[in-house]
Amino acid sequence: MSSLEQLKILVVDDEATIRSLIRQLLEQLGQYEVLAAENGQQALDLVQKNTFDCAFVDLMMPGPCGTELLDSILRQSPNTYLIIITGFASMKAVIDTMRHGALDFIPKPFALDDIRLALRRLLQKRQTTDRNGTAIEEARQKGEVEKLNQALEKRSKEQAVLCDIADKLSHIGHTGELCNRLVALATEVGEAEKSWFAVFDDSRTHLMTIAERGIGTQHLGSRVTVNRVGGGFSVDLDDMAEFIATQGLAGSIRVDTLQQCGELVAVPIDIRNQPFGVLWISSKKFHRSFEPEDQLPLRFMTERAALAIENIALYENLRENLLSTLHALVSAIEAKDSYTEQHSKRVTELAIEIAKVMNRTAEEIESLRLCGALHDIGKIGIHDRILNKPGKLTEEEFAIIKRHPVIGDRIVQHLGLTPQERAIVRNHHERWDGKGYPDGLEGKEIPLLARILTVADVFDAMTSDRTYRSALSPEITLDVLQKNRATQFDPEPLDALPGALQKRSFPKPAA
Ligand SMILES: [Fe+2]
Repeated sequence: MSSLEQLKILVVDDEATIRSLIRQLLEQLGQYEVLAAENGQQALDLVQKNTFDCAFVDLMMPGPCGTELLDSILRQSPNTYLIIITGFASMKAVIDTMRHGALDFIPKPFALDDIRLALRRLLQKRQTTDRNGTAIEEARQKGEVEKLNQALEKRSKEQAVLCDIADKLSHIGHTGELCNRLVALATEVGEAEKSWFAVFDDSRTHLMTIAERGIGTQHLGSRVTVNRVGGGFSVDLDDMAEFIATQGLAGSIRVDTLQQCGELVAVPIDIRNQPFGVLWISSKKFHRSFEPEDQLPLRFMTERAALAIENIALYENLRENLLSTLHALVSAIEAKDSYTEQHSKRVTELAIEIAKVMNRTAEEIESLRLCGALHDIGKIGIHDRILNKPGKLTEEEFAIIKRHPVIGDRIVQHLGLTPQERAIVRNHHERWDGKGYPDGLEGKEIPLLARILTVADVFDAMTSDRTYRSALSPEITLDVLQKNRATQFDPEPLDALPGALQKRSFPKPAA
């Protein structure tokens, strides 16, 4: 804040004596820098080059009229304290000048005290203005910064929500899981009490609920009627009544565009421009307000979900086709030899039971289910004559047989299997001591699921009739396997084998 002593003052009057008098009076009162102008134009020139704290202005003089001058001074330096000096102090003139920014008024003729009082009022005014002004400016700046911060925070939250949505809707293996993830996410993003996802039936006359949060699993599979409206679809709000807290909502809600009715929001999901389903969200948040920023994450979420569903559907279809072809091939291979018929199926079941005894994850068990069935698929590339040879194989024939894991790996490599899954096919003939094939992996270099399958595979082979020998009993087989513990077999799945054999219909060792 400027102190009074540092004020820069402009005096504008066409009478030289008045200018001189005011200057002298001001100089008696303090060390002011006083500049004087004899007309409006001179005053404007000075105003262009200087910032004045205060201006004494006579309105009755040649050149730009008084109010014009006041406007110009304030445009140049809005904080100038304007004091009007005039011999015609009518009420109208006072009001007029006040409207143009004048803050004080000194009638002619004036005395030293008039100037002193005006300066005192100026000082008081400046102190208050400065105090308030600083506070206001600080508040304004703080407000601006806060607004920017809020905008930034909001934007970054939005981005975080969108990233989170994208992340949570990716890496999902099948449609059911995706739908569950979608309603969980909708509940989170929409701060919703309830969220459920319904898909159109083929005729698009009904929507069937297939995933839910908060409405209860008893509603899974329930259907609501879809009405045709124009080229779109709607659902009667009556049919939604039990899911909406707001009473008395009448009419219907569109389900082909994003719609809100009370706290209920319908977000359509289209796949390839065809209606696929509707994500319903019931949230008190939306009842209070449904802002454009609320719509963004919902739209983004359903668009991502639609893409993911489409991809999964395509992949599931493709994979389903390939797998069913491969399973048919495995059956064809096994059918060539009645002794090995159903071998892959039994091996898979036993490997799963061993994995369960070892507390392996659901994903690992699913991998065993998928690839256990395919583990000998590579035998398709081996001649029947060798596969079904009744006697002992020659070294050369055995070398050919040993190719089947690699051939199998090549066959399944385009199925999008995980490395562990492919390893079940490729490495199920490796040995714990590193003397197996095809890669000669040793110990834990051999992926665990392959080590589990090896134990199941050998147990089933030994307990089955073969062309060159009869089936061994489970007891003898277990004994033989134990003798090869930590040489041929990983001890861990081997130790889990007896527990696994107690399940289902495997050949059980005698008690
Ligand atoms: Fe094999």
